[in-house]
Amino acid sequence: MHAVMQTALWVLALWALTAPARAEPAAERGRVIFALAGGCGCHTAKEGPVGAGGGKIPTPFGTFFGSNITPDPDTGVGLWSDDEIRAAIRTGIAGKKGAESPAMPYYYYAGMADDDVADLIAYLRTLPPVRRPNQSPDGGVPLARVGFRLWRMLFFRPQPAPATAPTAPTERGRYLVDHVAICVDCHTPRSLLGAPDRSMYLAGLKHGPGGGAVPNITPHATGIAEWDADDIVTVLTRGMLPNFDNVQGLMADVVEGHGGGLGYKDAPERDWRAVAAYLRTVPPIDNKVKGK
Ligand code: HEC
Repeated sequence: MHAVMQTALWVLALWALTAPARAEPAAERGRVIFALAGGCGCHTAKEGPVGAGGGKIPTPFGTFFGSNITPDPDTGVGLWSDDEIRAAIRTGIAGKKGAESPAMPYYYYAGMADDDVADLIAYLRTLPPVRRPNQSPDGGVPLARVGFRLWRMLFFRPQPAPATAPTAPTERGRYLVDHVAICVDCHTPRSLLGAPDRSMYLAGLKHGPGGGAVPNITPHATGIAEWDADDIVTVLTRGMLPNFDNVQGLMADVVEGHGGGLGYKDAPERDWRAVAAYLRTVPPIDNKVKGK
């Protein structure tokens, strides 16, 4: 056979072998991002339907309700462009409505890789559209849109997001903890104005969202210093603690998923191994939040 043709055949064979991974539809990859993000659970009420809004977000400023992110044209994001959805996820600007409430952790999603956001949006567009008008916050929320804008000005520092997500385990773990699974969002205390306290990164808090304690997950004796990687992975994939108790409340929600949707349990185990590897490397912080 002619050498050129032989080379061409080899290239073709190699392409056929590697192509399926790349040709995986964006929405399929986005499904994994959705699971890694705990099913974007705030956007689903306990009884579902997935993404149709109504998930309760208790904050010191009142109870917020996640918005409808299904492709319904009237009440969801069906008519939003990809750019508009991307801005809502990463910059806290929800189309014409303007600044989002800090209950939407856009300041963490801001670091989500371009590829991952694009895939996530592709997945959201495959959710069954549900007509369900958004609910306004309960409980005398003093922060109106103007307040949200002010908060955003004070506390949001736009950050450059990578084009693609990191793949080296510890670096990927950091990326997931800070920007996709946002463990940091619940496990880090906030100031009185609701701004995350970076000096207490992942150190837990006694009165977390919803009133319950959120454990310290730094490698300190008051945190999870004694846990090995398997212990951490088991919590994230099965919601089970080393003493065989099940995690409760908000943590159970992100592991299980809301309203029959996806949760941490549906994401690849190797990603949770990366998270476990990263958690060993964060600064240990002395903060006892539970009676142990
Ligand atoms: C929506 C809020 C929320 C998010 C997001 C969240 N957690 Fe939690 N987590 C909690 C709460 C609340 C508990 C306590 C559950 C309980 O009391 O049973 C908890 C418990 C845990 C525990 C058990 C610790 C112990 O000492 O019992 C670990 C480990 C943990 N989370 C790790 C993570 C990791 C890693 C992530 C990100 C991949 C994460 N969490 C994301 C709220 C959250």
